[in-house]
Amino acid sequence: MGKQKILITGGAGFIGSHVVRLFVNSYPEYEIYNLDKLTYAGNLENLKDVESKSNYRFIKGDIVDADFITNTFTENKFDGVIHLAAESHVDRSIKHPLDFVMTNVVGTVNLLNAARQNWENDMSGKRFYHVSTDEVYGSLHDDGFFLETTPYSPQSPYSASKASSDHFVRAYRNTYNLPVVISNCSNNYGPNQFPEKLIPLFINNIRNNKPLPVYGKGENVRDWLYVIDHARAIDRVYHHGREGETYNIGGFNEWKNIDLIKVVCKAMDKKLGRAAGESEKLITYVTDRAGHDLRYAIDSTKIMNELGWQPSLQFEEGIEKTIDWYLSNQQWLDDVTSGNYLHYYESMYVNR
Ligand code: NAD
Ligand code: DAU
Repeated sequence: MGKQKILITGGAGFIGSHVVRLFVNSYPEYEIYNLDKLTYAGNLENLKDVESKSNYRFIKGDIVDADFITNTFTENKFDGVIHLAAESHVDRSIKHPLDFVMTNVVGTVNLLNAARQNWENDMSGKRFYHVSTDEVYGSLHDDGFFLETTPYSPQSPYSASKASSDHFVRAYRNTYNLPVVISNCSNNYGPNQFPEKLIPLFINNIRNNKPLPVYGKGENVRDWLYVIDHARAIDRVYHHGREGETYNIGGFNEWKNIDLIKVVCKAMDKKLGRAAGESEKLITYVTDRAGHDLRYAIDSTKIMNELGWQPSLQFEEGIEKTIDWYLSNQQWLDDVTSGNYLHYYESMYVNR
């Protein structure tokens, strides 16, 4: 694709920081602009190792601010957008649905408008890549997989906002010929994930001997993918995905929550030198998440066959690397778990 300027939104977050790092290091000829509001989930510490690279710039800003987005776009004349900025936590969406409408829907439409306005006279070589989630497809029972053709059936305010943004992206292609591509990925895990999500929350609680709050009976199933494998898939889709297409991304790696938690507990006992079974004693069953989707499972055959992508890590290796990262970055964990996070944590769990 030659030299190009790419706007990556949400690059200070969990997945975004891995995408920024991959692009900055793999494509020195590109200029990578990371635009992020730095909400509670955005942490520039995640990008310390790339911040001084000459092909990287950070812009602090809010995608909900239409004028700011239009001006930034016009000033920098981006060739491509990889849009990851979002409110991403289902439990928060249950408490504050409107925040999700603003960032995930309005913010996405602001970016689409800015791209359309800047590219309308020449769309060649341009690309608007919207990063989405498997949750837009709703909830599965015991069998079957989400395909790219599965009808949308979002069940939480978070997934409804992501589904809505996906619809807007497709509508802008249909109506204005905007060159778009979308991917829908399953649950990510790995370094730098904010410890309100299952795996880093439980690693942190085990480390601090705090209860492990398992929602309901722990029988919900998620399909887990190592975050760097998602970043590699995003690289493939951005460069080689067919315009207007959707690609599902997943690990063919389904786990019942309670089984996954026991794997984490066992590994943590070993790493912390605790007696076998010690961490499992922290498991505490709490009130279920409202409207909790039972099972997600992605069929990633399309991206595997068309774009030659496949996960590089087996789950056992991925979870080991993940635990090692959190244990050797305890300062990172302490930094993000102080302040705001504690207030959030109290408000979320006090009634459970
Ligand atoms: P995250 O919550 O860790 O990071 C989101 C980032 O967006 C943060 O840096 C935050 O500061 C930024 N942001 C939020 N609101 C903003 C705004 N109004 N303006 C500018 N920046 C803003 O999220 P994540 O887990 O890294 O997810 C990234 C994307 O991938 C999201 O779109 C999410 O829906 C999608 N996704 C996530 C997963 C997963 O398992 N985490 C799986 C599939 C898809
Ligand atoms: O499927 C992709 C989605 O995965 C992404 O789009 C979301 O951004 C991401 O947050 C994730 O959503 P989940 O709701 O599946 O992830 P979470 O880590 O919050 O929860 C995983 C499972 O663990 C879910 O079934 C709820 C359960 N859980 C979670 C927490 C935080 C618990 O049992 N206890 C907890 O304390």
